[in-house]
Amino acid sequence: MNIAIFGSGYVGLVTGACLADVGHKVSCIDIDSHKIEHLNQGNIPIYEPGLEALINRNRQEGLLSFTTDAKQAVQRAELIFIAVGTPSDQSGQADLRSVFAVADSIADYMNNYKVVISKSTVPVGTTEQIKQRIVARQQHHNHLIDFDVCSNPEFLKEGSAIEDFTRAARIIIGTDSQRVTQLMSECYAPYNRNRNKLMFLDIRASELTKYAANAMLATKISFMNEIANLAEHLQADIEQVRQGIGSDPRIGFDFIYPGCGYGGSCFPKDVSALLNSATLTGVNLELLQSVQRVNERQKHLLFDKLNQVFNGQWHNKTIAIWGLAFKPNTDDMREAPSRILMEAIWQAGGRVQAFDPIAMPECKKLYSDESKLTLCEQRDACVDNADALVICTEWKAFRTVDFEWLKQQLKTPVVVDGRNLFEPKRVQQAGLLYYAVGRGN
Ligand code: UGA
Repeated sequence: MNIAIFGSGYVGLVTGACLADVGHKVSCIDIDSHKIEHLNQGNIPIYEPGLEALINRNRQEGLLSFTTDAKQAVQRAELIFIAVGTPSDQSGQADLRSVFAVADSIADYMNNYKVVISKSTVPVGTTEQIKQRIVARQQHHNHLIDFDVCSNPEFLKEGSAIEDFTRAARIIIGTDSQRVTQLMSECYAPYNRNRNKLMFLDIRASELTKYAANAMLATKISFMNEIANLAEHLQADIEQVRQGIGSDPRIGFDFIYPGCGYGGSCFPKDVSALLNSATLTGVNLELLQSVQRVNERQKHLLFDKLNQVFNGQWHNKTIAIWGLAFKPNTDDMREAPSRILMEAIWQAGGRVQAFDPIAMPECKKLYSDESKLTLCEQRDACVDNADALVICTEWKAFRTVDFEWLKQQLKTPVVVDGRNLFEPKRVQQAGLLYYAVGRGN
């Protein structure tokens, strides 16, 4: 099939590469000509395991192309995905300007029947608004062409997006049209061979499914973080509790890891957008408001622990941080707990020396004051002469540590672990003071 994808960001690139890889002819469109130029030279603007190879292979085979020419891409395509960003505005509402700008281009260039697919995470009702907008624009220009809209939310996790696309748990399509059902089934057929993953819902149910899924996962995390804080006061080990409850299949082991709060570009944004939609509709989502509040508090936990250890005395203190990305296998630092921690340390008068296997270039773009922050080339050099080590991200490279060696490197023997990577007794044996999340201190 001929497919056009508007937006060559994270979702657009992964979707484009995976659809091209099964033989569809895909054009990815972006208004950023530099980005398109780079993509055409094989330079991928984001870090995602496996994506560069997949894109370049399909580009060389002529199945995947990158362009700023929206007209040509729209006219060639049967299916047109909208995968542009929907960032939160000040009030937490999703900003739909890019989505509607794309809808306008599609309306202007459409030359025969198309399916317009909203892949971006959009508030309930947006897919219908896209339809109305295209119709209104066509009527205005007296250029009426048949088309359908549908919603097809993504459930990709950064760091495992290709695997999530190719081995999806489900593929949700929100539509009220038989023709769309048939065309979207054809589009996803190569990824739907072993068992039927396609689920056809109403458009509004499909849009809400995306938000409800992220809100449910965020709820699991905040719930666990709240129980972890209680466990700490009761001197119960949350890691044992986690295993105890996760083994109940009704609860499950996924997304119940306590930590220093959820981050990234999705959970915080989608929880805010859902709360905002609810408020606008006059509905009070009490549980979700608490999920958001608990998460904001949790992101301050690591600083609060350090502050307690140092009795609020930050003069000449240097903190080593392992892990800057909001989670492993990505360079994404959006809403990362490490940022709240670093900013609080600076505010208090301390310095930071940090290491991350992938996110350091990203960090450099965000924070350039070298008097406050040193980015270290190696994990081990990062702890040299620091007053404490804090772990913010559970990269595999941090899981094995010689604690006796660590004790010698640190000026004060303090380890604050925001991801519960170690067995407390083992760390304490080396003479280190170990502060984890919900583990009795
Ligand atoms: C999330 C969803 O998992 C995807 O299904 C969805 O498609 C995506 O958002 C999106 O809306 O586009 P992602 O933001 O990449 O994916 O990251 P996750 O792996 O879900 O992690 C989110 C945050 O939760 C991270 O900060 C992680 O550290 C935290 N987390 C996760 C915990 O604190 N505990 C857990 O047990 C699991």
